[in-house]
Amino acid sequence: MKRMLSGIKPSGQLTLGNYIGALREFVKYQNDYEMIVFIANLHTLTVYQDPQELSTNLRDTIALYLACGLDPKRSTIFMQSDVMQHAQLGFILSCNTYMGELNRMTQYKDKLAKGEESMTSGFYVYPTLMAADILIYDPAFVPVGEDQKQHVELTRDVAIRFNNRYGETFKIPQPLIPKVGARVMSLSDPTKKMSKSDALDKGCIYLLDTPEAARKKVMSAVTDTLGKIAFDPVNQPGIANLLQIHSALSGRSIEDLVREFDGQGYGTFKKAVAEEVVNLLNTLQARYRDIMDQGILDQVLSEGAAKARIMAEAKLQDVQRKIGLTIDATQ
Ligand code: AMP
Ligand code: TRP
Repeated sequence: MKRMLSGIKPSGQLTLGNYIGALREFVKYQNDYEMIVFIANLHTLTVYQDPQELSTNLRDTIALYLACGLDPKRSTIFMQSDVMQHAQLGFILSCNTYMGELNRMTQYKDKLAKGEESMTSGFYVYPTLMAADILIYDPAFVPVGEDQKQHVELTRDVAIRFNNRYGETFKIPQPLIPKVGARVMSLSDPTKKMSKSDALDKGCIYLLDTPEAARKKVMSAVTDTLGKIAFDPVNQPGIANLLQIHSALSGRSIEDLVREFDGQGYGTFKKAVAEEVVNLLNTLQARYRDIMDQGILDQVLSEGAAKARIMAEAKLQDVQRKIGLTIDATQ
């Protein structure tokens, strides 16, 4: 079975977009890949986090992943900071990455262009920590959103450079970008992605929203004045987004939904979408509460970290020996 790795940055509460675009996919991948999934908590520190809030987000993120069906028996699930080898390899890789390469990262360039004044040096070098997160496990595939593709490409460049300098060490990973259409848009501005980093607003459904709050958000989703249910993302982005959400959750095709709802008015259609969303939240939240009641998070994370540490330590030892950090007693 090929290995797949992904990291989730737990900055903020998980959203319906995360569920449809990522969580659900990971759960499916478990059937075909050996999955390594970690909570990238070190990465959140690149911008200031309130400690209490961060800790709550970490707990909720991992519990929701389990609630969605990520299975600790089949997959390796752990917290990045519990496997210290990531940070150690991260430093080594930052010494094999040029500043010119980091200067080209669009996330960095965007912040620079916006005149961001409090950019941390951790933010600047974080692509090299991400490279370490990946390369330390030799995965074949790394599923990421479009915005992270550049970082996986940098990871490949750094791995190739390292292999050339020091001999074959790292497997070169492939980014896996979800197909178009897997993008859930904001309910209040359907031209923007639904995002957890946005300030709390009615355009974003959080997986831990009360079902009633979520229902209200769907019912007040921005649509248009055309008054027809059709899949036209350019002229009717709001309706197209709601169709996609319904289709993703109900498993029915968009054509099928258009056939059923055309002519019925936006109110009726929104009610049906809200019903799908509420059903999902009810199911997820019941499992989430179960997981919390059982108090299994600590155990899942410590078992996951123990498994990950064995793989990470072996790779780190190999790297340290190859670059000459260790004493070779046989010489
Ligand atoms: P983020 O919340 O931006 O850190 O993204 C975490 C993961 O969720 C990535 O794999 C994203 O591609 C996915 N994701 C986040 N927001 C959405 C969205 N609105 N629609 C689809 N996928 C999303
Ligand atoms: N940087 C990613 C993000 O912001 C999260 C992440 C950290 C990651 N390490 C990773 C993703 C390794 C994939 C592989 O979303």
